[in-house]
Amino acid sequence: MNVLQKFALNYGHNKMQKTLSNALDIDILDKEIKKVPDEGKEYMLYAHIPFCHVFCTYCSFHKYKYSDDLCKEYFKNLRSEIYQMKGAGYEFDSLYVGGGTTLIDEDELLKTLELIKKLFNVKEISCETDPNHIDPKQLKRFKGVIDRLSVGVQSFDNDILRKVSRLERFGDQKSLIDRLENAIGILPIMSLDLIFNFPFQTKEQLLKDINIAKNLNPEQITLYPLMKSEVTRENIAKTLGVSNEDNEYEFYKIIRDEFKDYHQNNAWAFSKLDSGLSDEYVGSNYEYVGVGSGAFSFLNGKLLINAFNLDEYNSRVKNEQSTVMATCEFKTKDRLQYIFLTQLFDGGVDIANYNAQNNCDIKKELWFELNALKFVKAIYEENGKIKPTEFGSYLCLVLMKDFYTGMDKVRAYFKDSAKLNRARKVKIMQE
Ligand SMILES: C[S@@+](CC[C@H](N)C(=O)[O-])C[C@H]1O[C@@H](n2cnc3c(N)ncnc32)[C@H](O)[C@@H]1O
Ligand code: SF4
Repeated sequence: MNVLQKFALNYGHNKMQKTLSNALDIDILDKEIKKVPDEGKEYMLYAHIPFCHVFCTYCSFHKYKYSDDLCKEYFKNLRSEIYQMKGAGYEFDSLYVGGGTTLIDEDELLKTLELIKKLFNVKEISCETDPNHIDPKQLKRFKGVIDRLSVGVQSFDNDILRKVSRLERFGDQKSLIDRLENAIGILPIMSLDLIFNFPFQTKEQLLKDINIAKNLNPEQITLYPLMKSEVTRENIAKTLGVSNEDNEYEFYKIIRDEFKDYHQNNAWAFSKLDSGLSDEYVGSNYEYVGVGSGAFSFLNGKLLINAFNLDEYNSRVKNEQSTVMATCEFKTKDRLQYIFLTQLFDGGVDIANYNAQNNCDIKKELWFELNALKFVKAIYEENGKIKPTEFGSYLCLVLMKDFYTGMDKVRAYFKDSAKLNRARKVKIMQE
């Protein structure tokens, strides 16, 4: 990375912090906010399943400790909220179920997915799970329902697994490999999630993880850079230590090199074939409707935040109230930059489509950004598309990481109901 690129990286990082700081000026609502679709538009649906048996030290996704009763009641309410969306007039063409552990109660999940398929013309369904819920007998029940399942492996290194509290719960390298071998091939796309750049992770450990994952031959492999937010930083330091070395860019270059013969779906996901399925719900689906406790929706430039607290969520659904408890609005310029980033992250921005979708001229609206990115060799233009170079992909990865860690602060804030009761308007990033 040259000096200019380092500067661009820092600049982008600070700009993202500033934008989030301005944008995450959140209004906690007294009044009901109903989600209303634009006529004739199809959306992506995101459903959140906030339960895990164990909490991993690095993870700040919204979740509760699993209990059978809590989970069953939750799924019932989730289905009611899905009916509410149907009643509001929404049409969904794809579904992303995230967690937590979405397959934690297979019966309830299946019932919910079948309902969604009955109510909407959903053409693709993606789910996330842990390695304890990939038993072939259970997975076979989801044939024809789930199109892509991503399994959190994180690493095949026993030492790393132990440190992040996953070894005892999900098994060591050998047991993970055995279970994955039996599961791969049952559903159309199996994706293995790995994390890279753990403190003290060596290049050899990374290459070994990649090698094992490739030998298992799943349709897709995703490599997330370790994200440390204010919420998880301390826990990560306690369990994995603090290293003075940061190998993120070096490791990213190794990853790109190791996956040269794969199709790059976005800055961190690689597949054997171009599946055409959307990988991240924040990616090109920059407009989506979220259902479930703690789910975000992004609609018409507004982020809508569903109730995080389970009791609050359950009671709102039962009383047929809107589940949205807070909103924040992005300025037009921020929105254009955000859409540009998510599309670049996904592999490229089609200039004509971008202009039509956003009713603008990208070369005028984002003149400074495009010229600066060209100057530092982060993007180039080809056949009407703006594409990222290798450095550009890395820049997207860093900015996406910033976006996710920014969202962690929102999650942390909203889980603290005592704080919420005192506030009506909060500026999350300055807390
Ligand atoms: C929300 S988790 C759900 C997966 C499933 N519960 C499991 O643990 O196997 C989805 C993925 O996000 C990634 N992830 C979670 N926390 C992360 C962090 N701090 N940094 C990077 N990736 C993270 C992990 O790869 C994880 O598998
Ligand atoms: S990584 Fe998966 S199992 Fe671990 S806490 Fe996060 S959602 Fe739960």
